Amino acid sequence: MNVLLIGGGGREHALAWKIAQSPLLKKFFAIPGSPGIKDFAECVDDISISDNAALVAFAKEKGINLVVIGPEAPLVNGLVDALNAENIKAFGCTKDAAQIEGSKIFAKRLMKKYNIPTAEFEVFDNVDAAKDYIRKKSAPIVIKADGLAAGKGVIVAQNLDEALNAVDEMKNFGSAGDKIVVEEFMAGEEASILALTDGETIIPLIAAQDHKRVNDGDEGLNTGGMGAYAPAPIVDKKIAAQVEEKILKPTIAALKAEGITYRGCLYAGLMIKDGTAKVVEFNCRFGDPETQVVLPLMESDLLELMNACADGTLSDKKISWSNQSAVCVIMASGGYPKSYKKNLPIDGVTKAKSLGATIFHAGTKIKDNELVTSGGRVLGVTMTASTLREAVDKVYKCVEVIHFDDAHYRKDIAARALK
Ligand code: AMP
Ligand code: GLY
Repeated sequence: MNVLLIGGGGREHALAWKIAQSPLLKKFFAIPGSPGIKDFAECVDDISISDNAALVAFAKEKGINLVVIGPEAPLVNGLVDALNAENIKAFGCTKDAAQIEGSKIFAKRLMKKYNIPTAEFEVFDNVDAAKDYIRKKSAPIVIKADGLAAGKGVIVAQNLDEALNAVDEMKNFGSAGDKIVVEEFMAGEEASILALTDGETIIPLIAAQDHKRVNDGDEGLNTGGMGAYAPAPIVDKKIAAQVEEKILKPTIAALKAEGITYRGCLYAGLMIKDGTAKVVEFNCRFGDPETQVVLPLMESDLLELMNACADGTLSDKKISWSNQSAVCVIMASGGYPKSYKKNLPIDGVTKAKSLGATIFHAGTKIKDNELVTSGGRVLGVTMTASTLREAVDKVYKCVEVIHFDDAHYRKDIAARALK
């Protein structure tokens, strides 16, 4: 198969790394790709991932059999619809299905209508009405912008002042903040379950836990994710079965009842407390960095599974997992998730690899023949081992040999599971 991968972050590097192991793969392209993806695929960086017409033309010209879409924006932008209209197969969901991530209101209303467990909520397009409601409900309470806001449109307010300010701040999220969702605060422990689906059959992947806050001890601002590990012991057999029966299956069925066939990866962000899982959010794509720990544990052929999702033949497939553990520590630019410097030289990647790490590039580029930083999240240093303890001990030895100015990483990835 000739495959085109869309995206260039750590998640896409992990996807490329895994797809490249498939015996089904012939030619492999990536747009835009990255210095890490270049090891596996020909990277083309002069086509925008928001230019559906140009992407379709490229796929046709190169005889692509499957386009794999990493990030949410092209899905929300209808890339799969554009490809399918030209009979090009894609792994990823259509534009209407992508609303499950693209609009919090769509997702919350769907869950409410079909009794999928999630926090109570109200939707407002009027600041004063939202504030009145918040005063009535009191804190802690959660305020969310409706549309895509790069993970930043959510404020978990611990007190009333913070909550009222959050309503005013929603203006800063552009059109995403025109409508806001005010949501009941859910206590508990978070986990992420990614599931492959062809719209009928659902295959949940091994559960992972992300670390969203920038600093140790879950302090500081929310980020795209500072590290992850899998499997996440908080998702025991009972929770896994509950998530499949009460969340994943009913959600795919609910979408179907609304006239939407969901194909691709459905990401359920969960809050787990006292043996019950509720949905925090859905994403219409693989998680980042969750993918960097889930795929190293997958023994099956990911390309074969993705192709089956696109073909509607997932019911014929089985998935198998290694019984190891994986951990990924994100090395970020100092200042992230706020402003940070770019173009800082990165040393030690080869040394870290020689110590056994798999390094996924999240925000790097080559400048004057040198690897430099180019994003907030820079590298995902990943290690698998027979126990989580061993994986964690080893991963930090690898992190310590990598250097760039102002590098920042959390020192407590997986600490909760090790306790
Ligand atoms: P979201 O983008 O909806 O996943 O929200 C980002 C983060 O905010 C989540 O990963 C949670 O840590 C937190 N969060 C969102 N909604 C809630 C909620 N209702 N209760 C508690 N925490 C939440
Ligand atoms: N790690 C969180 C996300 O992918 O949305």
